[in-house]
Amino acid sequence: MSNSKLRKWTSNNKLLIFFILLALSLFVSTVALATIDRKSSAQFIEHEERGIKMRNEINSTEMEDKDYYRLPRNVEPNNYRLMLQPNVTNNTFYGSVLITLRVNEDTKVIALHSNNLTIHSATLKNGNNQSITIVSTLKSLDKRELLIFYLDREIPKGYYKLFILFSGRLDNKIVGFYGSHLKNGGKMVASKFQPTYARQTFPCFDEPDFKATYDITLYKPPSYIALSNMNEVSKVFDTDTNMEQVTFATSVPMSTYLACFVVCDFDHKETEINTGGIGKPFTLRSFAQKQELHKIDFAQDIGKRATEFYIRYYEVPFPLPKLDMIGIPDYVSGATEHWGLITYRETSFLVDEAKASASNKISVANTITHELAHMWFGNLVTMKWWDEVWLNEGFASYMQVKALDTIEPTWKVLDHFLTKTLHPVLVIDAKLSSHPIVQTVETPDQITAIFDSISYNKGASILRMLEGFIGHENFRMGVSDYLKKFEFGNTVTQDLLSTLEPYFKKDFPDLNLSYVMDTWTRQMGYPVLEVKMGDMPNTYFVSQTRFLIDPDVEYTNDTPFNYRWFVPITFKTNTQTNEEIVWLSDTATSVKLRGDEGHRWVKLNINQVGYYRVNYSLPMWQTLIEAMKSKSKQLTPADRSNLMDDIFALAESRALPFNMALNLTTYLLVENDLVPWQTASSIFRNLADRLQNTLAYDNLMKYVQRIIRPIYVKQDWNATNLPVQESLLRTLILSLAVRYQLPDAEERVKTMFQLWLNRHGKTDSTPIQQDLRDLVYFHGMKSASMADWDALWNLYQKEEDVQERTKIRTALAAPRDTTILRKFLLMAWDETNIRSQDYLNVVAQISANPSGTALVWDDVRTRWPQLVQKFTLNSRYLGGLIPQITSSFNTELKLKEMEAFFAQYPEAGAGESARKRALETVRNNIRWNSYHLNQVTSWINNNHRV
Ligand SMILES: *[C@@H]1O[C@H](CO)[C@@H](O)[C@H](O)[C@H]1NC(C)=O
Ligand SMILES: *[C@@H]1O[C@H](CO)[C@@H](O)[C@H](O)[C@H]1NC(C)=O
Ligand SMILES: *[C@@H]1O[C@H](CO)[C@@H](O)[C@H](O)[C@H]1NC(C)=O
Ligand SMILES: *[C@@H]1O[C@H](CO)[C@@H](O)[C@H](O)[C@H]1NC(C)=O
Ligand SMILES: *[C@@H]1O[C@H](CO)[C@@H](O)[C@H](O)[C@H]1NC(C)=O
Ligand SMILES: [Zn+2]
Repeated sequence: MSNSKLRKWTSNNKLLIFFILLALSLFVSTVALATIDRKSSAQFIEHEERGIKMRNEINSTEMEDKDYYRLPRNVEPNNYRLMLQPNVTNNTFYGSVLITLRVNEDTKVIALHSNNLTIHSATLKNGNNQSITIVSTLKSLDKRELLIFYLDREIPKGYYKLFILFSGRLDNKIVGFYGSHLKNGGKMVASKFQPTYARQTFPCFDEPDFKATYDITLYKPPSYIALSNMNEVSKVFDTDTNMEQVTFATSVPMSTYLACFVVCDFDHKETEINTGGIGKPFTLRSFAQKQELHKIDFAQDIGKRATEFYIRYYEVPFPLPKLDMIGIPDYVSGATEHWGLITYRETSFLVDEAKASASNKISVANTITHELAHMWFGNLVTMKWWDEVWLNEGFASYMQVKALDTIEPTWKVLDHFLTKTLHPVLVIDAKLSSHPIVQTVETPDQITAIFDSISYNKGASILRMLEGFIGHENFRMGVSDYLKKFEFGNTVTQDLLSTLEPYFKKDFPDLNLSYVMDTWTRQMGYPVLEVKMGDMPNTYFVSQTRFLIDPDVEYTNDTPFNYRWFVPITFKTNTQTNEEIVWLSDTATSVKLRGDEGHRWVKLNINQVGYYRVNYSLPMWQTLIEAMKSKSKQLTPADRSNLMDDIFALAESRALPFNMALNLTTYLLVENDLVPWQTASSIFRNLADRLQNTLAYDNLMKYVQRIIRPIYVKQDWNATNLPVQESLLRTLILSLAVRYQLPDAEERVKTMFQLWLNRHGKTDSTPIQQDLRDLVYFHGMKSASMADWDALWNLYQKEEDVQERTKIRTALAAPRDTTILRKFLLMAWDETNIRSQDYLNVVAQISANPSGTALVWDDVRTRWPQLVQKFTLNSRYLGGLIPQITSSFNTELKLKEMEAFFAQYPEAGAGESARKRALETVRNNIRWNSYHLNQVTSWINNNHRV
């Protein structure tokens, strides 16, 4: 071959050469296959040339096998030796994986997962390095996402090596292995595998209980860094590709969804974790784009203190030699707990002390403490299968607040738990479209869909209840035992409960913890307790029924517990707090409570630790309302928030007169705490949504103005550096004032906003105080002209800070002018304007604006095929868009439109249960109007004036 011919051949066969080199370098480094030479790498090529048969059809027996989605257990991975070479210039990646397999029973078939990968070759060898012929390969092109190798003969038990060469693409996605765009025009590569996207990156046994060790090698340009779960052990310059080949230490056994690969040119800061003698000290590093480095101090500080908290709490050493955290510009979710390399959306990670608000900080801190909780609970001990994902997510969602409450006690995040976590899920779980915490899932769509508020919020809430009756220290010790007992393994709910059982038995020797908890995890919904005067003075009878927001709805009794629960009751009176648990079992008709002599009122469910609602007789409610009005010290902010949330839910379900619930809100005239005001805020928002376009709307505005005036006048618009709690309260009250059109507040916001918008970038400009920006930008934009909008859009384009960008982007959806909203919606579709990670948020925000709802509903229905193409039906975020857009619909006509839309596109993918939820909500809205609208209207009309 002449020189020029050789060059031509080389360029035509770049891929081939690459694979040969890849295979060589890999095999040389594989001890078990040390003697392989060029000949064996030629084998792959021969094999490829012979052509691997791809069967795209699966026969009926295989089709009907109900376990078909699950991999057979007769072949398990022990180790993955994985090499990945991403090329951001042309958005491809190439890889090889050598999987050490353990065959447990004779088999002729090896099945694993692969999706959206091109498989170039595969070879199988036994422990003696003899090749086993793969007669055909089946790549399922449907949702099974399988790669099946059929062998020419049965292979006996033992260890085998499966070597696969493959390639895939990095573009047009934000899951799996993908490219992300930096602000400076550069690119990086990141990965996100939870729950079923590892298979889009390398062929693997992509189920959480196929734990294996990993030896990972990443190629990177010399000026970049490569990160993975473990610490780097070697770096070799590869002259053929002009790339550096970075190899990481062998990992501990872990699930596929926790593997992580990043190639970027970021900077970092680091700090030592003081383990207090529990394990060796190690380094925590935080990575960000170079110009953002000053924004990671907050995350580093919370990260360090939270990690040290968890080590003390779990009493289990951090299982890895290092821990990294990184903010990625394109990220599909808030963050993912990749072991040793936690990846965050930038808004969940970066904090500019000069720009971020108190609520930005709290939200970043919550995300960090959530992900760190998983490093043990979830990563070290993992659920067996996704139907128990609540174990991971419920636990981390609860631990995040426990950790934060310990490291930042003045933030009082345990109280926020009510309004952020518990109250929202009580709404969802009072409908038939809910589901049990533990629910069978099979397909990738079902798996991603179960990452929902039932798993996160209800899971966290019932763990909080469990801790409530078992005690903090017992709970901690039980969790610690559980982690030690099952480390590097997989578990089911029962394993956690069995470990907690002895601690539970200390106080309740006659009860069975698993039974108690099964009533909460294995059936959907929750009870409302009815409290009635007892047969003797100072006593009460408490009984239970299932709470449903629609009391008339019919349902089948499809649970072994008959929709009854094993309920831990706590109660207090005006003079006594009874922390001792009184149990109402699922089979008892009622239980008797005994209060102290001569008390005036009783309240059950202290601080709303229990996952249930409580209804009292009307005179008892009356005394409770009086207690709230007279600022009884016995009722904590959590109690007051609880009473308000319960009474409105009860009113909606027609368990008591709506007037009673509305009457209770007059107590807010003396309320000074954050959490009850957060509850009030969501109640008012709900009423405002329902009264929108009715004659009572203006009077509702006036009523809320009247109720907030006493606390509004105490707020200082100009105060700076307020403590977190006070700042959150001020922001909430001021935004209520503006939202409900208090003239003084509206005027101030308008002036501040216009001044800021006109002066922005000029030398005499003054930025708006960081805690008030959300509020001022958003409400300032409500009456915006097109010129104002264009000006803000320009600022958005120039803004570098991600938290600030989010605030501006939200405000861009605020105008009442539909023409403006139409323009925004159109522009947002272009990814050079709005990143695809933010697109669905923008759509939801425009639809939340009453001027934009119809616009978005039309657009989404027209654009649906494009949306599916862009986000895929497997996106739970796309599915979740439908209930968001339709949440305010309240007519039969709209219901028909929804039904017609779903009929037109029957494939809902991961959005199936979201559709059910959306329909049920709209039916409830229609019902709300017929039952409550008149009563609420006349109450508001009679009470908006003092
Ligand atoms: C992408 O780059 C690889 C080398 O890394 C090359 O083999 C391949 O042909 C390129 N693909 C395209 C579409 O340019
Ligand atoms: C379906 O395929 C399986 C595995 O290849 C085979 O064992 C079975 O006999 C086939 N069944 C039918 C009905 O073709
Ligand atoms: C991956 O999926 C996309 C979209 O469905 C498709 O265009 C592409 O060809 C697939 N790539 C591979 C390697 O299967
Ligand atoms: C990446 O792809 C580009 C474009 O195809 C190519 O020029 C370059 O050589 C590739 N890089 C490597 C390391 O293969
Ligand atoms: C609500 O309060 C008003 C005035 O205090 C009272 O007349 C009315 O009976 C109360 N309604 C209910 C249902 O308690
Ligand atoms: Zn989580």
